Amino acid sequence: MTSDPLSQRRDYGSLSLEEGSLLPDPLEQLSLWVKEADQADIYEPNAMVLSTIDPDGEPSSRTVLLRGIDDKGLYFYTDYGSRKGLALLANPSVSAVFPWYRQHRQVLIYGHATPTDPDISDAYFQTRPRGSQIGAWSSEQSRPIESRAALEAKVQEMEARFEGEDAIPRPESWGGFLIEPQRIEFWAGRTSRLHDRISFAREAQGWSTTRLQP
Ligand SMILES: Cc1cc2nc3c(=O)[nH]c(=O)nc-3n(C[C@H](O)[C@H](O)[C@H](O)COP(=O)(O)O)c2cc1C
Repeated sequence: MTSDPLSQRRDYGSLSLEEGSLLPDPLEQLSLWVKEADQADIYEPNAMVLSTIDPDGEPSSRTVLLRGIDDKGLYFYTDYGSRKGLALLANPSVSAVFPWYRQHRQVLIYGHATPTDPDISDAYFQTRPRGSQIGAWSSEQSRPIESRAALEAKVQEMEARFEGEDAIPRPESWGGFLIEPQRIEFWAGRTSRLHDRISFAREAQGWSTTRLQP
């Protein structure tokens, strides 16, 4: 008998989340949870669903990969001319979700995203495989194209353009965003929907924490 996924009810774990068991810096705590997701063999442990506000005021969401984290915030890379790129250049407000369902965990991020320093984008672009670098030159992300064949023709054109060049330069329209979080919530699933939620808010000095009802 096949079960109906829309009526499934699962009992979440009983691993508790105590204020005192989290690191005082939520960015360090997030790094730790990404590592633990990786150790638990979660596919793409650094994937987050990023939501932005389009220039017409409508929200939009998509997955991106976290590629760096430090005391300033979270770094991801994309096409500045894409839907999300144009949205963020007009309105830097973002939220993001790290959904680690198998671990009964999620982290929610609320903040502002701005383009990174070009040096950071250049350095990261050089770490990408050549195929991805050619891909960045070949795709105007989020804009329509008439066919797969037309895309493949652009890839061939770019391969010819950079043939024999060891280092492919970064296209100006491609680069990083730094998300500077104002709030970060750590969520752990508990029995009977009595989940633990600890929210960190950025203060003039450091972070404050608040427990939220499940
Ligand atoms: C697992 C996964 C990881 C992804 N990582 C990125 C990424 O790091 N950067 C990116 O621009 N798009 C990434 N994408 C593609 C985006 O989800 C999206 O399709 C693309 O960026 C265009 O989004 P937009 O039209 O809203 O700008 C990823 C998709 C998946 C499923």
